[in-house]
Amino acid sequence: MNSPTVPGGAGHDRRGFLRRLLTGSLWVGLLSLLGGMMAFIFPPARQAFNPGRLSLRVGSVRDFAVGQGKQVLFDGRPVWVLYLPQGFVALSAVCTHQGCIVTWDEKRHLLNCPCHAGVFDASGNVVAGLPLRPLPRWRVEIVGDEVFIGKEG
Ligand code: FES
Repeated sequence: MNSPTVPGGAGHDRRGFLRRLLTGSLWVGLLSLLGGMMAFIFPPARQAFNPGRLSLRVGSVRDFAVGQGKQVLFDGRPVWVLYLPQGFVALSAVCTHQGCIVTWDEKRHLLNCPCHAGVFDASGNVVAGLPLRPLPRWRVEIVGDEVFIGKEG
């Protein structure tokens, strides 16, 4: 038994399909355009810090107590990451006199060099001893709850 034929059925189906295809394409295009406009008007939050090749995650903020320091290796060089009442500071741990490794005094908030009694404050400035230059600083960024250090500049 043959199914009844609808006059113009095949052409009608083809036109309907093409109409739906065209309408769907227009909607997809319109939504893409709106999405692009919304992304332009309301840009997504960007990370203030790009943890690229020359950056290092040193831990979570929760890992530090105020006054505490943590020595890490960055690019093969020792760096002190200090959590001070005013925030994080990262300083080279290499004394600028003759290259000995300074230690962090949590109680006095000073960096002491064991070789010739050089002393630096928590900003890296020379306080006493033979060093003539301050300790180089490193950039510190907090991304979410994570602490990163990177090269200045
Ligand atoms: S190497 Fe640090 S004071 Fe001399």
